Amino acid sequence: MNENTIFPKLKIGKLEADLPIVQGGMAVRISLAPLAAAVANEGGIGLIAASGITPDELVRHIRQARELTKGIIGINVMVAVREFADLVKAAISEKIDLVVAGAGFSRDVFGWCKNAGVTVAPIVSSERVASLAEKFGADAIVVEGKEAGGHLGTDESLASLLPRILKKVKVPVIAAGGIINGRDIYNILKAGAKGVQIGTRFAMSKESSASEAMKKVWLRSTGSIITGMSPTGMPSRAVDTTDIEAMPKVGNRNKCVRCLKNCSHRDEQIKFCIIKALENAQEGAIDDGLVFCGERIGELHDIISVKEIMARFKREYMSVVREEEGVKPCAG
Ligand SMILES: Cc1cc2nc3c(=O)[nH]c(=O)nc-3n(C[C@H](O)[C@H](O)[C@H](O)COP(=O)(O)O)c2cc1C
Repeated sequence: MNENTIFPKLKIGKLEADLPIVQGGMAVRISLAPLAAAVANEGGIGLIAASGITPDELVRHIRQARELTKGIIGINVMVAVREFADLVKAAISEKIDLVVAGAGFSRDVFGWCKNAGVTVAPIVSSERVASLAEKFGADAIVVEGKEAGGHLGTDESLASLLPRILKKVKVPVIAAGGIINGRDIYNILKAGAKGVQIGTRFAMSKESSASEAMKKVWLRSTGSIITGMSPTGMPSRAVDTTDIEAMPKVGNRNKCVRCLKNCSHRDEQIKFCIIKALENAQEGAIDDGLVFCGERIGELHDIISVKEIMARFKREYMSVVREEEGVKPCAG
């Protein structure tokens, strides 16, 4: 058995990735061209996070990624951000391969992408929204369980959500949340998903654009917490530490840059700017930042290259295949 043929390919719309692995989009400026291109070069799908950057900056990153890889590059954008439409349209004009839309639901995105021949996959956390997305023309659906890092649309685990969504839709389903190794990938594909979306493991890579300070926080984290509502109206999963407050103090009224369509940062209970908080963390101002991470952060102990991450995934996946199916490795 050869490790390049062991993983099934991931087909979504007209795209075909050699590996069934999507690197989750991570804002603000965690997954940019270097990370997305490194993942694409390994045969996965790399996503540039568009939320919190301008359409011009996004275009620069898409062009940089295209110079670094011939692989599949997409964007991830939160529907909640004010510039959602401009960001998607900028990416489409750059002939982006894939648009993944999370943190909210947009009907419009299906039309924009279909008209331009661009593959589109919304992130969902319920059967109802999965069906709706399929009806509007989704090429695939990313289903995210409560284990995921960042904003959460559910308090249900991926293991309980996934089988119900698989029954509900015919398009390929990509599962996200708490997937950190090749064994997890094997189990998720065996359960019927066609691919996985992985965030935190790739955030903790050499190619991710998080500050060294942010990477150190991840390295010493032993667990995560679900925060209260962010200004988007959703809770989120972030690093749980005793010396770092889970909700930042940043973002008073004067600093508001009107980044969200509907922002509740003026709410007495919230009072911070989500984009600024994520930007601060990425830049290393941890005390005024919000450090998103997945539930299994405590099991990740190193910052390694994307190449090494993928090689590990393959080794771990192959060893489960051998164990479960009794496949013996080829001699020589
Ligand atoms: C630092 C960080 C930032 C994230 N930012 C976004 C984002 O901007 N948009 C989004 O849809 N998901 C975002 N996510 C979620 C990831 O794309 C991915 O679906 C999730 O992290 C998967 O769970 P895992 O981290 O356990 O692999 C973020 C996650 C992390 C850890």
